[in-house]
Amino acid sequence: MSPLISSKAGTLKGRAPIPGDKSISQRALMLAASATGESVIQGLLESEDVRATAGALQSFGVPMEMDKDGRWHVFGRGVGGLAEPDGVLGLGNSGTGARLLLGLAAAHPFTIFMTGDASLRSRPMDRVMGPLSRFGARFTSRTGGRLPIAMEGTGNPLPLAEKLTVASAQVKSAILLAGLNTPGETTVIEPLPTRDHTEIMLRQLGAQVKCQAVEGGAQAITVTGQPELNAANITVPSDLSAAAFPLIAALLVPGSQIEFQDVGVNPLRTGLLDCLSEMGAHIDVQNLGAGDGGEEMANISATSGPLKGIEVPPERVPAMIDEFPILAMAAACADGPTRFMGVGELRVKESDRIGAIADGLKACGVSLQEDEGSLIINGSGVAPAGGASVASRMDHRIAMSFAVLGMVSDAPIRIDDASPIATSFPGFVPLMNGLGGDLHLEEDAR
Ligand code: S3P
Repeated sequence: MSPLISSKAGTLKGRAPIPGDKSISQRALMLAASATGESVIQGLLESEDVRATAGALQSFGVPMEMDKDGRWHVFGRGVGGLAEPDGVLGLGNSGTGARLLLGLAAAHPFTIFMTGDASLRSRPMDRVMGPLSRFGARFTSRTGGRLPIAMEGTGNPLPLAEKLTVASAQVKSAILLAGLNTPGETTVIEPLPTRDHTEIMLRQLGAQVKCQAVEGGAQAITVTGQPELNAANITVPSDLSAAAFPLIAALLVPGSQIEFQDVGVNPLRTGLLDCLSEMGAHIDVQNLGAGDGGEEMANISATSGPLKGIEVPPERVPAMIDEFPILAMAAACADGPTRFMGVGELRVKESDRIGAIADGLKACGVSLQEDEGSLIINGSGVAPAGGASVASRMDHRIAMSFAVLGMVSDAPIRIDDASPIATSFPGFVPLMNGLGGDLHLEEDAR
């Protein structure tokens, strides 16, 4: 356990250098591994989750190395070219790593064993085991479809047309990656559009991926299997989901202004910006167009000011699925109630995020109501009392969200364990302090 104390900040100023996008970094490694020859990845996120994926890919026989300028060189084995790992794959805290790698490996004629940390071992994996078994893979898992899992991949995969019941980019991507080494066309129909980083990168590397709208807001994505993927230079944009923490800190701490450069603004990720604009936030977005990885990028600046409560429409949820913890902190300081509806998926993230947000905010003096799939936060227009110890529950975003709230609350907030922050944003504490924050590890104060 590594407790973190976050106290009231002075004004926050400056340019915040944000690390690479986690979702895109994971996909860059996996697709570079499936290409033929050497790919070079610039701006890869250097965090525990991404390292876990890199380590797993090395166990599949994919060599990779970082050069002195921080670029990653991945020597791809071609589609279908993975080798059987000789040990158990440990994916740490990473749901994306675990689910996408099961998909990537499913259409290979070998067996793998996979596990993760206590948080990942509690998360549902049946959502990928179901579709992947319809390709022909076979699974043995712990009760309730939990890790550890053994997967016997298939050498004769069958193409699939799969209709998803949850809007999940991880499940969609696992199916597309299994479809990559399956002859014929594999189609996934998702109930609402989710982040399309896998589709964008597959196209960049030369695969055929079609996308078609179907009735009721759903869409069908089809990949043509067994293409030759070309090795490429991939630039990973800065992660909007990481920028969200200093960005909301800048909105909440009076007198602040912070700028961000080259942030990924894929339209299927920007629900947070839509919410903040409806709340009356002063945010300026200068679009830069698509970078060489095909992803939209922007420079963003955020200036402090009062916020008002809003209702987040359920159809916006997939476009901001990781931003609810930090938006909840803004909602706690806003004037009037903010309603999060249709957010049941938050119960099965790195932690039960509805429970973690609700318990933490109540301890800090915020009034709210929760039920299975919704959360209503009754903001009073001023920062809450704070002065509480909050459990991060092995969840990086819960830890960082309450660290931001501590920067404006009347009394400091103690986060019981800040170590999960390293899964996505290892430089978070020095970055926030460099902008004007007052965060310190409890052990450093002794
Ligand atoms: C991710 C998809 C989302 C998100 C996660 C990253 C991805 O998960 O919460 O942090 O990279 O595909 P779900 O697909 O479970 O919604």
